Amino acid sequence: MNRFENKIALITGSTQGIGAACALRLASEGADIILNGRKYDERAEGLINQITAMGRRATFIAADVSASADVVKLIGDAIATYGTLDILVNNAGVEKNHNFWEVTEEEYDFVMDTNLKGIFFGIQAFVKYCMGAKREGVVVNMSSVHEEIIFPHFAAYCASKGALKMLTRNLATELAPLNIRINNVAPGAISTPINQSLMANPELLNNVLKNIPMKKLGKPEDVAAVVSFLASADAAYVTGSTYFVDGGLTYHYEEQ
Ligand code: NAI
Ligand code: BGC
Repeated sequence: MNRFENKIALITGSTQGIGAACALRLASEGADIILNGRKYDERAEGLINQITAMGRRATFIAADVSASADVVKLIGDAIATYGTLDILVNNAGVEKNHNFWEVTEEEYDFVMDTNLKGIFFGIQAFVKYCMGAKREGVVVNMSSVHEEIIFPHFAAYCASKGALKMLTRNLATELAPLNIRINNVAPGAISTPINQSLMANPELLNNVLKNIPMKKLGKPEDVAAVVSFLASADAAYVTGSTYFVDGGLTYHYEEQ
């Protein structure tokens, strides 16, 4: 199914994990892809080869999306690459495991600048482009179940994802007259490098699985499938929502 014929998609933080799966999924449905990460490496090269083998175009643009000037430049460079930009997937994100009382300002800024500030100004640059070019656009933000539920020892992370929830709710209304849709995808526990220490610790993993009705971690491809839906015209009447991809984690409750 070529839902993204003649569409150009930028996915931030896309050389591994969920971002890489989104890049491959959108390419498999016809999109040309702008990959992003802090620097070019063999993973970027491998993805470019895979996407090119699908008959799609792919380019990597290095940018640190936690710096607003860099993210604005990234959007401009992405538009310049293939002449336009249709889909922005704000996937890059970071987390820090700390007791609340030990979090430093530097660690707080690291999380908030990547997971919120960069996304805010990246969307703003994309919206200005869409307005100027009189084009419609689609934004999908990689949020988390922790835009909704707590995650002790990850206070800054939860604050960033909670803010992303409200940013999306707010922008959906403000951007609808411009024909720009915006939605969040909220993954639960997904097997990616961000969960390396969890996956290497059977006891901790078992505790996490107790919270998941489907009793398994999700795959990056499970998340990419929902991103692809939201980015496509199949979701033409969907804006301001969060789609949970969590094996039932968020609304889980059982007594025995
Ligand atoms: P990951 O750590 O495997 O991948 C994140 C990617 O973003 C990495 O390639 C990293 O280099 C890149 N990145 C980080 N900061 C960046 C920056 N300043 N500039 C450019 N690139 C940067 O993590 P994963 O799991 O693929 O996470 C992707 C998104 O999904 C994140 O926003 C995360 O919060 C979210 N998420 C992940 C879940 C999981 O269980 N894996 C669950 C819920 C949400
Ligand atoms: C975090 C993961 C965690 C998952 C479920 C995500 O937002 O990045 O580390 O496993 O939520 O708690």
